[in-house]
Amino acid sequence: MTLDLVPYSQAHSTVDDILGVVAAIALLFVVFALLPSRGRGRIRQPIVFLALHVAAVGILRLFPLDGAANRFLSFAAVGFYWCAIGRSLVLLVLDVVLERRNAQVLPKIMRDLTQGTVYAVAVLASLRTTGVEPGSILTTSALLTAVVGLSLQETLGNLFAGLAIQIQRPFDIGDLIQFDADPSLAGRVVEVNWRATKVLTFDHVEVTVPNATMAKAPIRNHTKPTNISRRSVSVSAPYDASPETVQQILLSAAHGAPGVVADPCPSVVTANFGDSGIEYSVRFFTDRFQTREVVDGAVRDRIWYALARSGIEIPYPIRTVHMHQISADAAQRTNGVRAAERERTLLAVDFLRVLPREQLEHLVVKTSARLFAPGEIVVRQADTTAEMYIVERGEVVVTLENDAGEVELARLVSGDFFGEMALMTGEPRSATVKTSKETSLLVINHDAFKPILDAVPELAGHISRVLAERQSDREAVAVQSQRVNEQQVYAKSSELLGAIRSFFSLG
Ligand code: CMP
Repeated sequence: MTLDLVPYSQAHSTVDDILGVVAAIALLFVVFALLPSRGRGRIRQPIVFLALHVAAVGILRLFPLDGAANRFLSFAAVGFYWCAIGRSLVLLVLDVVLERRNAQVLPKIMRDLTQGTVYAVAVLASLRTTGVEPGSILTTSALLTAVVGLSLQETLGNLFAGLAIQIQRPFDIGDLIQFDADPSLAGRVVEVNWRATKVLTFDHVEVTVPNATMAKAPIRNHTKPTNISRRSVSVSAPYDASPETVQQILLSAAHGAPGVVADPCPSVVTANFGDSGIEYSVRFFTDRFQTREVVDGAVRDRIWYALARSGIEIPYPIRTVHMHQISADAAQRTNGVRAAERERTLLAVDFLRVLPREQLEHLVVKTSARLFAPGEIVVRQADTTAEMYIVERGEVVVTLENDAGEVELARLVSGDFFGEMALMTGEPRSATVKTSKETSLLVINHDAFKPILDAVPELAGHISRVLAERQSDREAVAVQSQRVNEQQVYAKSSELLGAIRSFFSLG
């Protein structure tokens, strides 16, 4: 339906024009002043609309046009004006009032929809100036409605799905989600707009998922309600190692692995009796979903080291037959080389150098080597284990936990030893010792040392002196003072000697 057309210059006086522009500029000033500084750039759009309005009105006033040109410019002048006002009001309501109240950025889809509606209303209202009744477009054109409806079916589907996602909120911007069985499509939500949701995957690829697809997908949110999710790693162990033993080893391996949280704690289940061994599933929780494969890898590393230390071999497929023959001579030679290496390591410890030959050989046989992964705790402060370790290769860090936090006492490398306090006195561990790289340690336990002290009781005096010096160092750090003096070390040494004698039941 068309209306009787009243030319723009007749419908509006110059005073109307000036008042209208002044009102629009005043509104722009208010919006600009209230907008948060990061969003001030958005004011450019209404300014451009207002400028275009002024240009269109200027042409209409300066060059009286007829017919289609006049209609078009009148439509443009009114349309740009209402778009400028509409955009300013949208900024005022969404960016100033709602964002301040919600204290967060509104979803893009809400912004786009509101803005789109405002522009549509501005355009429809401006149609009057061209002589077209806007209502007639909406109500009478069934054909247009059908065409638009059919062609926009998918787009509208995405739009409504996007709205449903916003209302239901299975995720927010910034959440880590997985919406597909393919784990490489997991990533961080970066945008939800009127057509699609954008996810930045961990491969740094932006995936655009139509909202309709997203609305149908089972979405796994790894940020909400908590950022902790469970992982599991499979490992096989030989049939001759009991499930109880293996499970304990696997549990302790998973416990301190980097990225594994302590609560909820890891668990192990016997998963299957496989061809080559018993299969176990080690389950643990991590708060590093983004680097979950690295965490899985770290747990596998720890499992390898823990099983190797316990002498449990991860089985090969049973069908592979390894023919490996070592002659008696060769075996003896290999053992001889190992014994010589072990003896050299033992002799690096000052108080073991005084051992008679027989006692040293006894110790060589009784010690065993253990391999640790980087970052593993070998002894924990206050634990009551009683083994002493000599560093064969690698490095360990000795730390003391006190009121001020964690203090590093020393870094020990090849030839250094630790754990002698508990070995000798049976006291709880006085510090925590952790590997800083892959480290091989030689272990001496209480039973191996007892016959030596029985045979060379004077050794207890020498050892008590070394222990006293180390303890003084530790105390000096704890109270942040200079090292304690000679007399105090002497007193401590006598006290420790008593403890050693009693722990080893020396006469
Ligand atoms: P133990 O108490 O059995 O367990 C922790 C070990 O850390 C301790 O024995 C020492 O061997 C070692 N340790 C403690 N303090 C120091 C230090 N100041 N320097 C080097 N090693 C230390």
